[in-house]
Amino acid sequence: MIDKAHLIYFSPTRTTQQIVEQIAVGLGVQQIEQHDLTLAENGIDLQVDDGIAIIGVPVYAGRVPEVCLTRMQSLASSGAPAVLVALYGNREFEDALVELNDVVYAKGFLVAAAGAFIGEHSYSTPEQPIAAGRPDAMDLDRAKAFGQAIAAKLHAGGPLTAPTIPGNIPYKDRVPLGGVAPETDKDLCTLCGTCAKVCPTLVVEVDEEVVTAAESCVMCCACVKECPEQARTMNHPRVQERRALLIQNCSRRKEPETFLE
Ligand SMILES: Cc1cc2nc3c(=O)[nH]c(=O)nc-3n(C[C@H](O)[C@H](O)[C@H](O)COP(=O)(O)O)c2cc1C
Ligand code: SF4
Ligand code: SF4
Repeated sequence: MIDKAHLIYFSPTRTTQQIVEQIAVGLGVQQIEQHDLTLAENGIDLQVDDGIAIIGVPVYAGRVPEVCLTRMQSLASSGAPAVLVALYGNREFEDALVELNDVVYAKGFLVAAAGAFIGEHSYSTPEQPIAAGRPDAMDLDRAKAFGQAIAAKLHAGGPLTAPTIPGNIPYKDRVPLGGVAPETDKDLCTLCGTCAKVCPTLVVEVDEEVVTAAESCVMCCACVKECPEQARTMNHPRVQERRALLIQNCSRRKEPETFLE
């Protein structure tokens, strides 16, 4: 019987976190330890030898974001079971789950199950919604049921079988980030500082004005979605073009997929 879950996730707009937490609810563990990598600039130093780890990342261009890999560098285990979660914005998860599987296996975990879930796309806006409001109640129910199915697999005993996870090896080429960042409307901004507090790469400074060092922006849009005055917008032409394509090609609702066998 597993009684402890380590929730390990990077989640600037909190959709990955919601799914990871619901899986833990379904697992029915007594104890939950949160290891939020989102604002952990120096990553986490964690050896997991008890309980189960639920490890969640958003999908960026079909891959695990580089910032997640860096922040998980000092994560290790000597054989604890792990559940993998790739959270994507209703386009595709491509090679992210298979990449996460390789990374987590190399750290010494035994992967028990994996799931691809859908969350509101980082580039979604009220005017141009993409998977807006997801994960919704149905997604959260699916995550909880997934947790229950994992608990049943673990309670069945015997050697833990690794699930078959879709994706290509070698993975698709990484799309480099950096150079594109949200802008601030000075007329709306009250210099409240929220955008700086939620930025996972600490590239926003709020003093007499808001200054963003675009080179290290990962385009997560946490600052846009959390700004209480709607003063931050991500409207670079490259993002506008991408947004239009996503609305055109990826508006049909996708459903979560889980891999246990
Ligand atoms: C740079 C970047 C690349 C992305 N690439 C993809 C993608 O390849 N496929 C997809 O469906 N969603 C993609 N998304 C959307 C995120 O995966 C999605 O919004 C996710 O819910 C964000 O997770 P979070 O709420 O935990 O931050 C991308 C988002 C960003 C910022
Ligand atoms: S969160 Fe919005 S209002 Fe607050 S400082 Fe940033 S841009 Fe200005
Ligand atoms: S500045 Fe870039 S990295 Fe920071 S919160 Fe905004 S979009 Fe994310």
